[in-house]
Amino acid sequence: MSASAYVFDAYGTLFDVHAAVRRHAEAVGPDADRLSEIWRAKQLEYSWIRSMMGRYQDFWTLTEQALDYAFQRVPSADTSTKAQLLEAYHRLDCYGEVPQVLKSLKDTGAKLAILSNGSPAMLEGAVSAAGLDGVLDEVFSVDSLRVYKTDERVYDMVTTHFRIYPEAVSFQSSNRWDVAGATAFGFRTVWINRSGLPDEYTDLPPAAVLSDLNGLKALG
Ligand code: LAC
Repeated sequence: MSASAYVFDAYGTLFDVHAAVRRHAEAVGPDADRLSEIWRAKQLEYSWIRSMMGRYQDFWTLTEQALDYAFQRVPSADTSTKAQLLEAYHRLDCYGEVPQVLKSLKDTGAKLAILSNGSPAMLEGAVSAAGLDGVLDEVFSVDSLRVYKTDERVYDMVTTHFRIYPEAVSFQSSNRWDVAGATAFGFRTVWINRSGLPDEYTDLPPAAVLSDLNGLKALG
C-alpha cells in the first residue's frame, strides 16, 4: 500500500543540526564538533525529562539552555559565538537531497508534513531558509500539546488532522528513538540512518532503513 502522507522529523532528518556549529567552527575553536554533539544531546535530554515531569518549556528555550550547558562542558569554545550559533540554528541548512525528494513525493499526490519537537517560530525559520514552504502541506509542532516526542499524542496529531489511519503514514526520522515511538503508534516508519549508527529499540523496528531520503519514493 502506498503512503497517503509522508511525514518527516525536522532536526537531523531534513535539517542538519550540526550545520550551525560548522558554519562558525573556526570562531568556536578546536572542539567545535564536541560542542555540537553535547548541544544536541542535552537539547534532546531536556525534552524527554521535561515531558516526564509534565513541566514543558518550548524547544527554543531548551535549545538555548543546552547550548549554555555545552559551553560549560567545552571550555575551549568561545562563548562570544553564542548569538551567532543560535541565529544559525534558526536558519539551519537542509540536507542536499531534501528539496528534490520532497518535490517528487509531492507529485505522487501524497500529503507532506513535518512533525517536530521544534517551536513554531524555529520551524518556520528553518522551513523558509530551506525554501520548503511551497511543498509542505502542514508543519506540526508539539508546542500546541506542550509535550514532546515520544508521547503518542504527538504522532496522533497527524492522523487526527489528515483523518487517516496510522498505517497510511510513512514517517521518516534519523532519530532511532523517534522511529521507535512512531512505530509503537502504528506509523510505517523509515529510519534515515545518515551516519551508520547501530540499531537499537529492536522490539520496535522500522519498516525500512535508508542512508538518506533518496530511495523513499521507491518504497511506495
Ligand atoms: C524533532 C527532533 C526530535 O525535529 O529532531 O522533533
